Amino acid sequence: MPDFTKITSKVPLEHLAIIMDGNGRWAKQRGLPRSAGHHQGVEAVIQIVDECVLQGIRFLSLFAFSSENWGRPRHEVDGLMELLLQFLASQRQRMLADGVKLRVIGDLSRLPAPIQAALTDAQKDTSQGQKLTLILALSYGGRDEIMRAAKQIAQQALDGDLDINQLDNKSFSTFLDTGNLPEPDLLIRTSGEMRISNFLLWQTAYAELYFTDVLWPDFDRVELQKALDDYLQRKRRFGLTDDQVGAQKGE
Ligand code: FPP
Repeated sequence: MPDFTKITSKVPLEHLAIIMDGNGRWAKQRGLPRSAGHHQGVEAVIQIVDECVLQGIRFLSLFAFSSENWGRPRHEVDGLMELLLQFLASQRQRMLADGVKLRVIGDLSRLPAPIQAALTDAQKDTSQGQKLTLILALSYGGRDEIMRAAKQIAQQALDGDLDINQLDNKSFSTFLDTGNLPEPDLLIRTSGEMRISNFLLWQTAYAELYFTDVLWPDFDRVELQKALDDYLQRKRRFGLTDDQVGAQKGE
C-alpha cells in the first residue's frame, strides 16, 4: 500500500494512470479525420500534465501507444510518431520549468530510430525534474512487459546470479519497466470502454478503477477533478480490515 507519509498531493494519491481512449470517435463525431482526434488528444495531455503538477500528484502514467497499435494503418502510426516528436519538442521548456521528469516504458526497440533518440534526449534533459514523473507507455503491453521480466529473471538464474527462492513480489517488480516506481493508486479510462487492455497489468493489482464516457480529447481539469473526487470516496483496504488500515495511517 502507498506510504501515506510521502504523499504531498491534496488527494492521497501518489500515482495516477490513464488509458486515453476515444480520439478516433471524437474526430468521427465532427466529420474530421482520426488524426484531428489525436491532435486534440495531445492538447488534453498537456492540460492534464499541468493539472497533475498543480495538484501535487507525483507520478502520471499515460498509455500513449500499445503493442497492438502497431497493427493500425501505416499513416495513422506514422502520424502518432510525428505527434510524439512534436510533443517532445514543444513541451521541453515547459517540462523543465515545471519540474517534470520524463520516463518511457515499453518495448522501445520497436520504435523508429529518430523517436528512440528523441526519447533518450528528453529523458536525459528532464532527469532532474522533482515535481512530477511523466511515464509515457509506448509500444507497451503489460503481458509483454511481464514476459520480458520473466526472461531476464530466468537468464540471471541460469547464470547463477539470482536465487529464485529469494524472489518475491517486490523483487520481481524491479525487473518490470516500471522498476521501483510506486504502483498506480487510480486508473482512469475514458470513452466508456470498461477494460484494462493490457495496461500495467501487474502494477494495477490494487488500483482503484474509474471509467468515464468522456472522450479523451474532451477530458480536462474539470473531468480530472471529478475522477479525483470519486477516488476520495473509495475505501482502500488492500485486503486488510478498516481498523488495520486506520492504524497504518495513524488514525
Ligand atoms: C486512443 O484513441 C488513443 C490512442 C491510441 C493514442 C493516444 C495518443 C494520444 C492522446 C496522442 C499522442 C500522445 C502523446 C503523449 C504525444 P483511439 O484512436 O483508439 O480512439 P477510438 O477508440 O475512438 O478509435
